[in-house]
Amino acid sequence: MTLTVVGHGYVGLVTACVFADFGNTVYVIGRNEKKINELRKGNPLIYEPGLKEILQRNLQAKRIFFRLDYTSVSQSEIVFIAVGTPPKENGEADLSGVFEVSEKIAKNLSKKNDHFTVISCKSTVPVGTNKQIEKIIKNHTPKRVNFAVASCPEFLREGSAISDTLNADRVVIGSESKKAIEILLELHKPIEGKKIVTDLSSAELIKYTANAMLATKVSFANFISFFCEKTGADIETVLDAVGLDKRIGRVFMSPGVGFGGSCLPKDVMALISTGKKLNIDVSFLEAVVKINSQAKKNFLKKILSNHQGKNLAIWGLAFKPNTDDIRFAPSLFIIEKLLENDFQLTVYDQQALLNVKKIFKDKIRYTKDPYQAIKEKDGLVILTEWNEFRQVDLNRVRSLLKKPVIFDGRNLYQISTMKKLGFYYYSVGRS
Ligand SMILES: NC(=O)c1ccc[n+]([C@@H]2O[C@H](COP(=O)([O-])OP(=O)(O)OC[C@H]3O[C@@H](n4cnc5c(N)ncnc54)[C@H](O)[C@@H]3O)[C@@H](O)[C@H]2O)c1
Repeated sequence: MTLTVVGHGYVGLVTACVFADFGNTVYVIGRNEKKINELRKGNPLIYEPGLKEILQRNLQAKRIFFRLDYTSVSQSEIVFIAVGTPPKENGEADLSGVFEVSEKIAKNLSKKNDHFTVISCKSTVPVGTNKQIEKIIKNHTPKRVNFAVASCPEFLREGSAISDTLNADRVVIGSESKKAIEILLELHKPIEGKKIVTDLSSAELIKYTANAMLATKVSFANFISFFCEKTGADIETVLDAVGLDKRIGRVFMSPGVGFGGSCLPKDVMALISTGKKLNIDVSFLEAVVKINSQAKKNFLKKILSNHQGKNLAIWGLAFKPNTDDIRFAPSLFIIEKLLENDFQLTVYDQQALLNVKKIFKDKIRYTKDPYQAIKEKDGLVILTEWNEFRQVDLNRVRSLLKKPVIFDGRNLYQISTMKKLGFYYYSVGRS
């Protein structure tokens, strides 16, 4: 098949590369010439494990092409919309990018009688948006153009985006057009996951439901951790035991410094905003957001109340491991607040240093070596659970730090080990 993907971020580029790898011809549309030139040279511009290799392989095979114009739309059987839908000030999803590209797609659709185009939205959009996309396309294209819209929400996780796409738990396809569904099912044939075929609204709501549930799991774990901290109970033991109940499960019950990233915070806020418009009481979801913010504040308070000096190192800046993404990362909040309290900070992260540098510039120090970061520091703060931190040489950490103080926002180490090594160790929900 011939496909066009509009947007080359975490979702757009991964989708394009995976479908090109299956043998399709894929055109990717961007709007920045410099970035398009970099992509043409095989630089994915973002960090995602395996992405560079799959991009370069498909460039070489001449199956993936990068464009600034929309001419490829007329040759495509499917056009994916994969542009950002960031939150507005009031939490509502900003759909201006989706609507802008819908108009451009409309103007470039094939007018041939025998050509049918599926316009499929991968961006996370509130219920009703695909209907609006359909209206925009109808308004900007002649009547005889054959097309249908379909919602195909994306569930990949940054850090494992390629394998998530290849081994999807499910592929959701929502459309009123049988033909569009058939074409999308055909495209997704090499992907094993269960195919859920449904209507547009259900498909749109499935995505928000999934992210609201994930955010709830994290906030629930944090909520219980507040009880643990007041009572001496151990959150990890509590959740291990509770998680053995198959109705509950342990996955994603992650106490810590809170959830971040480009999806959970913005999608929960967008669902709250949709709920308010529909006159639904959204206090349940508001509590999820409130607890997340409380988790960050509690962790900050731990540092402010227990530090033994103001020269600290931070390990982990990305909102989660295996990504360079720092959107809504808890690290941004913690760094900002520590700077307000006159701390001197030296930070380390495998992938996210450059992105953090764009925000904090020379207000903090950056290092590419975790051990260098902690040398002669009054303590270490851990904010992302990169695997490399799990089995560090803790004796070396102990000897490099001026004060053996660790604030661990991800519960990476055993309390007993840290005690034995002589650390002052502060984690989440464990005494
Ligand atoms: N990142 C994830 O883990 C993930 C997972 C599932 C769903 N999603 C959803 O997918 C969508 C894209 O997310 P992402 O993380 O890939 O975003 P991103 O910020 O990484 O990429 C967005 C892309 O859209 C392009 N773009 C934005 N506005 C544009 C416009 N008007 N015209 C042309 N191009 C435009 C940007 O240049 C960029 O290439 C969002 O709705 C997001 O909620 C993201």
